[in-house]
Amino acid sequence: MKKPVIAVDGYSSTGKSSISKLIAKELGLIHMDTGALYRAVTFYAIQNCLNDRNEIDLAKLLKNLDQIHLDFRSENGELVLYLNNENITDKIRTSDISENVSFVAKQPEIRDFLLHIQRSRAQQGGIIMDGRDIGTVVLPDADYKFFLTASADERTKRRFLEMQSLGLTTDEKSVKENLIKRDKIDSERTVAPLKKADDAILIDNTNLNKNETLALILSYITNI
Ligand code: DC
Repeated sequence: MKKPVIAVDGYSSTGKSSISKLIAKELGLIHMDTGALYRAVTFYAIQNCLNDRNEIDLAKLLKNLDQIHLDFRSENGELVLYLNNENITDKIRTSDISENVSFVAKQPEIRDFLLHIQRSRAQQGGIIMDGRDIGTVVLPDADYKFFLTASADERTKRRFLEMQSLGLTTDEKSVKENLIKRDKIDSERTVAPLKKADDAILIDNTNLNKNETLALILSYITNI
């Protein structure tokens, strides 16, 4: 039987990526974290395209898009993102990137640039992709669509713990402000906003841990 294509969207820090990774393992699928693509472009912009006020120079970034080579490589059963041949996995979770990524992600040219990378992988099937517009724009014909949400306080706690575990210094107040600001920009942008697809299943995991969320999602996936 053909392996399914699964779209997982939702708010920041609802556990989309970590749960998608577990689902991939459980069902023998490939997992693609599409937020990493937007973070990678932001990482490039911060390194190469700042103006004299230390802000991202959008015109320069757009002019430099052909200098950005992104590819996902399969390593130990996982897709690892490389930017210009550098494994940037551990460098794209910083506050600096989180502060700037929604600005980068709302640019139509950037979204267009990243769309084909996402779609071309999905054509082979057997993939679970997580992001903000997977069920609505990237893979509107996905076999299963889920939309994750949780309270802002719970999401703050999760992001704060994640950053602590990565050794990144921050405080809960700034984490919460960043989550709320990002969700607002991501939901209100004109192109491919963060939105539940009409046919997506809504999962509120405020009171569910990772394994409980996993079990709930798996209970909807039937024809495997
Ligand atoms: O999932 P994440 O927090 O790593 O995503 C970082 C940002 O990238 C998020 O604030 C919005 C953007 N993004 C997007 O616009 N579309 C996607 N499919 C994935 C992420």
